[in-house]
Amino acid sequence: MERDDPAYKGQSGYNPFMLAIYDPWVLGFMSRAVWHLPIPPVVERYRRNLGHRHLDVGPGTGYFIEKAAPPTDIEISLLDPNPHVLHRASKRLAAFHPTSVEADVMKPLPVDGLFDSAALNFVLHCLRGPIENKTNSIRNIADVLVPDGVLFGGTVLGIEEPHSKPARAFLRAANKQGGFDNLGDTAAGLRQILSVSFSDVELETVGSAALFTATGPRPRTSSERA
Ligand SMILES: C[S@@+](CC[C@H](N)C(=O)[O-])C[C@H]1O[C@@H](n2cnc3c(N)ncnc32)[C@H](O)[C@@H]1O
Repeated sequence: MERDDPAYKGQSGYNPFMLAIYDPWVLGFMSRAVWHLPIPPVVERYRRNLGHRHLDVGPGTGYFIEKAAPPTDIEISLLDPNPHVLHRASKRLAAFHPTSVEADVMKPLPVDGLFDSAALNFVLHCLRGPIENKTNSIRNIADVLVPDGVLFGGTVLGIEEPHSKPARAFLRAANKQGGFDNLGDTAAGLRQILSVSFSDVELETVGSAALFTATGPRPRTSSERA
């Protein structure tokens, strides 16, 4: 991805070193100690929502797919603009022979066919704000789901939501550094952008995060197609 792309900063931090410490540091420590978000229920949600043809947008290390332990005949596509992420996640998930797609979720997705499920797990807080700007990412995923397909995931919410003191400090620092762009993201705003592209949206907040499930992908309106 070019450095002047608006999405550049949200993905550039996932270098081999970061990916090597991601599971113990982010998922093992940060999520519980800072975000107050235990990971095992997120794995369980992941397992519950997985369909046969599954798209993971922003897979990171591939932790959630591996821990969700899908059946071996599942068809998995991994989509991320960062080649280090794709390399690491596809190596970890080699038993499932995943397809890697180097692409930005903010642009129409260059994938083949339609998916039964898609995960957008802890990616939205990395995308450029304000939250209305992130509507495109949801739209692009809705476009590649079957009519009864499901989009699920989670995101860290912005500064207006109730956070612990360390969470506020981390949020400000990560937004200043550019890895996050979510200071203005709210649960209501998230529901709104999901509802543009899905008829049914379920959302719950846990600690600093919102976890969501969206079904009933809507076709694009004529103004969206223009
Ligand atoms: C915080 S990590 C989450 C990783 C994983 N989903 C998890 O829950 O552990 C964010 C992921 O989103 C990816 N990402 C960032 N910007 C993206 C974009 N514009 N399109 C697709 N993926 C993106 C990053 O490269 C990284 O893999």
